[in-house]
Amino acid sequence: MRILVCGGAGYIGSHTCTVLAARGHELTIADSFVNSSPRVLDRLQRIVDRPIAFRQADLRDRGQVDALFADARFDAVVHFAALKAVGESCERPLDYFDNNIGGTIHLLQAMRAAGVRRLVFSSSATVYGDPEQVPVREDAPLRITNPYGRTKLVMEQLIGDLCDADPGFHAANLRYFNPVGAHGTGLIGEDPGGIPNNLMPYICQVAVGRRERLQVFGGDWPTVDGTGVRDYIHVMDLARAHADAIDYLVEADRSITVNLGTGRGVSVLELVQAFARASGREIPYDLVARRPGDVAEVYADPSLARELLGWRAELDIDAMCRDAWRWQSMNPQGYGDGDGEPGSG
Ligand code: NAD
Ligand code: WQD
Repeated sequence: MRILVCGGAGYIGSHTCTVLAARGHELTIADSFVNSSPRVLDRLQRIVDRPIAFRQADLRDRGQVDALFADARFDAVVHFAALKAVGESCERPLDYFDNNIGGTIHLLQAMRAAGVRRLVFSSSATVYGDPEQVPVREDAPLRITNPYGRTKLVMEQLIGDLCDADPGFHAANLRYFNPVGAHGTGLIGEDPGGIPNNLMPYICQVAVGRRERLQVFGGDWPTVDGTGVRDYIHVMDLARAHADAIDYLVEADRSITVNLGTGRGVSVLELVQAFARASGREIPYDLVARRPGDVAEVYADPSLARELLGWRAELDIDAMCRDAWRWQSMNPQGYGDGDGEPGSG
């Protein structure tokens, strides 16, 4: 199939491209590089054995989005392109509405005009907010706690309305839990700009010597060891789910919303210990106050994805840490490091 991958230069998008290419799909990445590096494209090309087309485009610009469809016939779109920093979304909500919701509307308009009627959409466990019970099922109440989360919920809803209005249009809303890890080559991985907001990239930067100590946000949560519990999922498992979702859209001809997680909760300290084992590096940390907006425990009930897609996560927390560390140690400064050979940074 010919697939347009919006936001394909980003963390999850680039890993998904490796799986889609390995399954024989013909890919075009569209990205504005607002949160990624052009260097990803060379790295990707070293991993996959077929050419991947690239178009620089900003989904906020309707003309640029239409142009993507002008000279290509796509069979499906995988849509990763969004801003994703929760704190920033509280400071600049309009930018998040404009980029995430506005960009998605342009994409849907262009898809409709071009007759492209299959969409895989990156949603998030953030739509559950602070869940009443864990594991979280897809029919749990949806509660938004920040503007980023609101954009995800609104996008799911407007995609749902479009599916209702056009019975031939089918979408897979994939609600990711906490994606971590990297491709097994160490050539691509997560490279957040500035101070990492998320736990795994922060741990990686402590391990590689870019930051001194981890701050563990809260040791008094009602959890196994007092620290926050999340459902970390290997980005390659997540990537495979996108390829499975495309197969589902083709075969089943209906829309779905599914959780993508392992179903297993892991505490901050358990992740720190697993990372120390995988890397052989100590991760010094301080227990500090809770981070505003955090919740105690969130993990998925992933059984619907298993039932509908035949998908389940296969890689455990040790593999997530091992692969995250391979990426970080081969690329201490992320994509700023050049060619990705060990020691090149
Ligand atoms: P990322 O920032 O690494 O990737 C997003 C990509 O989209 C980047 O390359 C960015 O440059 C591009 N982009 C953003 N706005 C764009 C626009 N207007 N036009 C063109 N390109 C644009 O993020 P990621 O971690 O790979 O996340 C991918 C998707 O998954 C996002 O939609 C995110 O909200 C969602 N998600 C991520 C997580 C997570 O923890 N990483 C969890 C749940 C959901
Ligand atoms: C995990 C745990 C922190 C950093 C966020 C978004 C969510 C989704 C994924 C996109 C928590 C603790 C963290 C640190 C710490 N993104 N922590 N020290 O908050 O579950 O989810 O990313 O959709 O929307 O909210 O992930 O990695 O930030 O935190 O102790 O320096 O690690 O308190 O318990 P979170 P996270």
